[in-house]
Amino acid sequence: MELDECIVKRHSVHKFSPKEVAASILATIIKTGTNAPTAGNLQEWRFVVVTDETQKEKVANACEEQIWMANAGALIVVCTDNRDVKRFYGEPGNGYAVQDAAAAAMLMLLKAHELGLGSCWVSAFDEEKIKDILALPTVVVPHLIVVLGYSEETGTEKPHFTLGDLIYLNRYGKRAAEYPEMGEIIKKLVEKGKKAAKKLHQR
Ligand SMILES: Cc1cc2nc3c(=O)[nH]c(=O)nc-3n(C[C@H](O)[C@H](O)[C@H](O)COP(=O)(O)O)c2cc1C
Repeated sequence: MELDECIVKRHSVHKFSPKEVAASILATIIKTGTNAPTAGNLQEWRFVVVTDETQKEKVANACEEQIWMANAGALIVVCTDNRDVKRFYGEPGNGYAVQDAAAAAMLMLLKAHELGLGSCWVSAFDEEKIKDILALPTVVVPHLIVVLGYSEETGTEKPHFTLGDLIYLNRYGKRAAEYPEMGEIIKKLVEKGKKAAKKLHQR
């Protein structure tokens, strides 16, 4: 699958078949995540793979009772051990750890899609409860959960903001779309994106 197709077609899934996700697939997805950049190349990620039914239910309950999560084949809790980032960078290190976890998770979502799995990023949880359920040491922080499984959903269309409303040139305030040259480029990109998305969704 081409990168563009993977990026455009990936979407959040909340309904899964009971089919298990093989350990080799989970390992491949995590391996892909570890290609992400990290601050100072510290690679402080820790991944807790949850496949046990009781543990999945407990985690789902700790995620503001998002019970649907327990039906997925696996939950990968993306954590960081913050000792090194704090030692090297002090307080900002905590923020870097969040970014490092997010970068890995994004790659994991894309790899999951490429491998034919559905996924969802979940961050709404009670951190203390998750730490307790997974027996995480104090220095290990859970940032998000990558929910993985075989999708039982159909339909992938989702609304997007207009590119021109999101980009500014040189400083915040004047929209890049208001500059003639950039405006033209954005218009073309938006049209190209619409056509590509339409083509992909027709497949
Ligand atoms: C930081 C963050 C937190 C999220 N937390 C949840 C969550 O707790 N539950 C959930 O169902 N989806 C969650 N999502 C998924 C978003 O709702 C979803 O990505 C968004 O609606 C866009 O849809 P898409 O993933 O299909 O592009 C989260 C996404 C992000 C990036």
